[in-house]
Amino acid sequence: MKLVLASNNANKLREVKQLLEPLGFEILSQREAGVVIEPEENGSTFAENSAIKARAVYNICKMPVIADDSGLCVDYLNGAPGVFSARYAPENQLCDKLIAELDGVSAQNRNAHFACVICYIDKNAKEHFFEGKVFGTIGFEKKGTNGFGYDPVFVYKNGKTLAQMDSDEKNMISHRANALKALVEYFENGNN
Ligand code: IMP
Repeated sequence: MKLVLASNNANKLREVKQLLEPLGFEILSQREAGVVIEPEENGSTFAENSAIKARAVYNICKMPVIADDSGLCVDYLNGAPGVFSARYAPENQLCDKLIAELDGVSAQNRNAHFACVICYIDKNAKEHFFEGKVFGTIGFEKKGTNGFGYDPVFVYKNGKTLAQMDSDEKNMISHRANALKALVEYFENGNN
């Protein structure tokens, strides 16, 4: 079955292919499906935003689609930046701004998680949602050079930031990988 990923991000495409192609899916990027749009992500939850993206692509290509939306939720900031993660600051200032906002906050009060919701629209246009999370803390300084976004300040339970892990290591534990695993389980249980 052909499945369109509502994204042109090469890393996401590789990760999705790695997990879903062994199950017999042919994964197409948005571009490969001939869809050129960038819908406004104005939902108030990750699920709403993932559905906005998936629905916009589905309406054009009329093929099964998956779209994801993700972000960082910091307990001390009542879940912020959340759905505003990408817009919290310019990409190269995200970590510095977060460290500054948590200035003076003790190690015990720096818990955070990344969340990812995947919206899958099946061939009958029905929406299904799959969520994944990864828990950690916000460090006091940036560490590591891999990854993107908040990776240099997100400390996993092994003491490493996500930016100190290589992509294989991160893909074993990430919020996106966990959401994808939930989707894979859904297909493995005979659903489609
Ligand atoms: P989107 O789901 O691709 O729209 O990502 C939303 C924003 O959340 C990104 O721009 C990043 O700022 C942040 N984010 C999502 N996933 C990650 C991650 O794995 N590492 C670091 N930042 C992330």
